[in-house]
Amino acid sequence: LFAGAADFIWAATSLKNLPPMDKVEIAFAGRSNVGKSSLVNALTGRNTLARTSHTPGRTQQLNFFDIGGHFHLVDMPGYGYAAVEKQKVQAWTKLIHDYLRGRASLARVYVLIDSRHGIKPLDAAVLDGLDQAAVSYQIVLTKGDELKEGEIEKCIADTAQKIAKRAAAFPEIMPTSSRSGSGIPELRAGIAKLLHE
Ligand code: GTP
Ligand code: MG
Repeated sequence: LFAGAADFIWAATSLKNLPPMDKVEIAFAGRSNVGKSSLVNALTGRNTLARTSHTPGRTQQLNFFDIGGHFHLVDMPGYGYAAVEKQKVQAWTKLIHDYLRGRASLARVYVLIDSRHGIKPLDAAVLDGLDQAAVSYQIVLTKGDELKEGEIEKCIADTAQKIAKRAAAFPEIMPTSSRSGSGIPELRAGIAKLLHE
């Protein structure tokens, strides 16, 4: 599935300029700096496909990538603190919420959570929106390389408990590290399974 080309095809700054819904879309959402763009690069094996930065607020539009003509990955701006003007953050936060709740071609959202921090109130608000709109989502823990083995297990257990009663949550939590590559094959397999359902 990920063996072919991966190409940037579209950037959207408002709901009015989204691309045509001709492919299934899989979106990556999460707080600013959680590692969304890095995960897109790790999945596609293309280190410079999505732009990354240690400064929160790097991705400022919905960026669509065509994966081998099979489906589209959507790298989103982050919510929460970003090192840019408040107005910009407010505008893209609204765009994220509107896109996530109202896109017919959106098959799944991967909600990224920093494994050092777990689910915070701002994340919970996004999960509430997805539950209400019945948009299927799965939690991906990022930056697992920063934790010790036992700490990852604890974060998985805590997070599983927090999403247990959520209507649209996929029960399995995926631990990953874009840096070490751990969990990336499993995430690819999950996407392949989703597309073949
Ligand atoms: P915004 O676009 O600003 O919302 O950020 P983002 O969620 O796209 O994060 P990005 O991929 O740009 O990564 C943010 C920072 O986290 C960068 O400094 C990355 O190098 C770092 N980072 C990303 N993934 C990992 C990881 O798996 N492990 C570690 N240790 N750092 C990571
Ligand atoms: Mg980004």
